[in-house]
Amino acid sequence: MTALDANKWKQAGTLQEVLPELWEALQSKVDRMIGQIGDKSPHVAPADTGIYDDMRHDWWTAGFWPGILWIMHEMTGKDHYKEAAWKWDEKFDQKMIQPNNFHHDVGFQYLPTAVIKYKLTGDEDGKRRGLYAANFLAGRFNLAGNFLRAWNQDKTGWSIVDSSMNLSILFWAAEEIADPRFSMIAKAHADTVVNHFIREDGSVNHIVSFDPLTGEVIESLGGQGAGPDSAWSRGASWALHGMANTYRFTGDTKYLRAAQRVAHYFISMLPEDYVAHWDFRASETLEGEPRDTSAAACAASGLLELAAALPAVQARPYREAAERMLLSLTQHYSTWDRPDHEAILVAGTGHKPAGQNLNVSLIYGDYFYIEALAKLLGWKTRIF
Ligand code: GLY
Repeated sequence: MTALDANKWKQAGTLQEVLPELWEALQSKVDRMIGQIGDKSPHVAPADTGIYDDMRHDWWTAGFWPGILWIMHEMTGKDHYKEAAWKWDEKFDQKMIQPNNFHHDVGFQYLPTAVIKYKLTGDEDGKRRGLYAANFLAGRFNLAGNFLRAWNQDKTGWSIVDSSMNLSILFWAAEEIADPRFSMIAKAHADTVVNHFIREDGSVNHIVSFDPLTGEVIESLGGQGAGPDSAWSRGASWALHGMANTYRFTGDTKYLRAAQRVAHYFISMLPEDYVAHWDFRASETLEGEPRDTSAAACAASGLLELAAALPAVQARPYREAAERMLLSLTQHYSTWDRPDHEAILVAGTGHKPAGQNLNVSLIYGDYFYIEALAKLLGWKTRIF
């Protein structure tokens, strides 16, 4: 993509005007990223260098770069994307038998690698690894509180909204081997998200702490948001996309309504350029608060999932909001004028309260941007 083309995009009034050529440019961009990223497992690229880091293979983000490659492979039919993606789930096998820190996020890791590989190629190793991850995740279910526990270490009663996105691997396993145990666990956790994470106004809690023996709710915690009562935007995007997915798998309108509730809050809190601040309640005016393009990209893809679940007349506002968000990301928060930059989006916020990864590119922002654009172009296979 040349600077001239990017300028044309900057003048576009709607995403639809530029979508086909944007997609073509993204193929060239991802081709370049294949060379730049090589064997790295990318997570964060700082704004100044634009060079992605190389994270451990049990880090929760390890599936997103291969996920981009698998989507590109399916959308284009080109084999070089498949070849670059192929080896990733095997790396997880090797890490699983070493000391590791796999936890609730195995869905984020195995769905865009093992499971999609199996869906697209019939690879039996991909299926085996996907089922292994589903069993691993099911084993983290707390019967007293009906939640999937978060992380490892000593917080056995903590659960987090992020896991809304990991449920898809349980639903997939249930369908794949016709065993309802997996969907029962996924639905029980989804009910907990509806009852204890999504608030009346559509904002969400990041962490809910339960008594791990009785299942009683102890408290909600701010986690990666500004505080216990704040509204972390990426958490909202996990809930929105995750509940829309759960509706797709179950057909239960309780999850559809939950996704809509979060969507309405999310859209109502967007600033003029339609790219979410990192926490919708970080301060009263949000003046000077950083954006989080990863929340915007994930929410856009979730809104398209929601739109796909509804009749056209109800779907339109969700689809239009998603397209506006994606156009703004393309016009104002992308790296088109920096071919040396290894990422697609800029201005992601990793963990603001911890002061980690501020104003950076995040590989999951790139992933959900591609996922959302692929959905607009008719991509039907689903990873999440
Ligand atoms: N799952 C961690 C995050 O959203 O940053």
